[in-house]
Amino acid sequence: SKGAAMVTAVAYRLTEQARQIQQTLAEFRLSKNQLLEVKKRMRLEIERGLKKDTHKEATVKMLPTFVRSTPDGTENGDFLALDLGGTNFRVLLVKIRSGKRRSVEMHNKIYAIPIEVMQGTGEELFDHIVHCISDFLDYMGMKSARLPLGFTFSFPCYQTSLDAGILVTWTKGFKATDCEGEDVVELLREAIKRKEEFELDVVAIVNDTVGTMMTCAYEEPTCEIGLIAGTGSNACYMEEMKNIEIVPGNEGRMCVNMEWGAFGDNGCLDDIRTIYDQAVDENSLNEGKQRYEKMCSGMYLGEIVRQILIDLTKRGFLFRGQISETLKTRGIFETKFLSQIESDRLALLQVRAILQQLGLDSTCDDSIIVKEVCGTVSRRAAQICGAGMAAVVDKIRENRGLDHLDVTVGVDGTLYKLHPHFSRIFLQTVKELAPKCDVNFLLSEDGSGKGAALITAVGCRQRELDAQ
Ligand code: GLC
Repeated sequence: SKGAAMVTAVAYRLTEQARQIQQTLAEFRLSKNQLLEVKKRMRLEIERGLKKDTHKEATVKMLPTFVRSTPDGTENGDFLALDLGGTNFRVLLVKIRSGKRRSVEMHNKIYAIPIEVMQGTGEELFDHIVHCISDFLDYMGMKSARLPLGFTFSFPCYQTSLDAGILVTWTKGFKATDCEGEDVVELLREAIKRKEEFELDVVAIVNDTVGTMMTCAYEEPTCEIGLIAGTGSNACYMEEMKNIEIVPGNEGRMCVNMEWGAFGDNGCLDDIRTIYDQAVDENSLNEGKQRYEKMCSGMYLGEIVRQILIDLTKRGFLFRGQISETLKTRGIFETKFLSQIESDRLALLQVRAILQQLGLDSTCDDSIIVKEVCGTVSRRAAQICGAGMAAVVDKIRENRGLDHLDVTVGVDGTLYKLHPHFSRIFLQTVKELAPKCDVNFLLSEDGSGKGAALITAVGCRQRELDAQ
């Protein structure tokens, strides 16, 4: 009959629609072999970054940090720390006490950095930073102290010493002019001078991964790796000096800031990148750069989801085929929303309520699809991030000629901490892809600020020794 034929036609359309959606998402579902391939390529890029002959053109830069050891508990003193480049900008006062009852006490204040400042001139950015420090020193009543300062600056920097770092390129949401190619420590010192209100002694510039590793190593000496899975994605670890060919000397170890976010910038991940990854890249402040980071960090996961939703809507599978203004808006799906949508405790009705908050009118079917899209994108992120980490732990194991390595990774970042599944899938992947390593993960609280202070303490002590 006609009725039955219509029912069949509708059912067919629905299954065909489901099939097409699954086909779209299938590209994000990586096999173990594909992940092993990602691990292998990361390992290759690590070697290229470390070797003198290939360093210049290497995408994973493996930047020396001039941090030669993890803390030993003898660090002592009062320090100021700045933390720029994560979700918040913070100024901290860190009091470290050594000895039997060692302790770290911290006071901090969070400051907003308006988008106009992040993307204005370098001078405006550094004047703003110094303005915040000034406010903080007033608040703590410490304007006349001339404290030593550690600057956590979470961007790629070429370091030639602990207290010099030339910005290679901005990443994430920053794009201030006249900073790339400049020594960021000098830019900060000049801004402090311009203000003529207080003096500070800038002792160290520190990547957030390094700060996180140091903070965790202060509690747990087996910690020799730092990981950030947050707004951006990056790792550092203790490498053998003899392998870091661009730094003279063969004795001992030095922490290298991998800048693994740039993995894939030479096209080596093109076979797993989707058209949605390409769209996210094209829409970004730094097209062609940080391709791995754009597949696995908090600033971009929501953007990948948004690109998929736009496409599914255009094809008539979602939101009744209507692309709303909201869906056209960059950055709507922040990590915290993805985390909520993917939470297992949430009923579909609540997923719809979240979408409603974002200005998206959804049916029940829509909300099921949106949730699946989010889950698929964040699972791939956790897996490829895990594949990168698997390459690192195996590299350390081989460096030491071991059949088996026990190691601890200090971790920080909103994606790792807030997302309901990311950390679990990440850990599982590392375990699967690096079976010869037992990897322990330690969450750091306030990692980058505290770590910057610890590094500053070591820097001050070294200076005193050098002066003798
Ligand atoms: C970006 C930065 C890197 C930082 C990471 C995490 O990848 O380039 O320096 O460590 O974000 O914040």
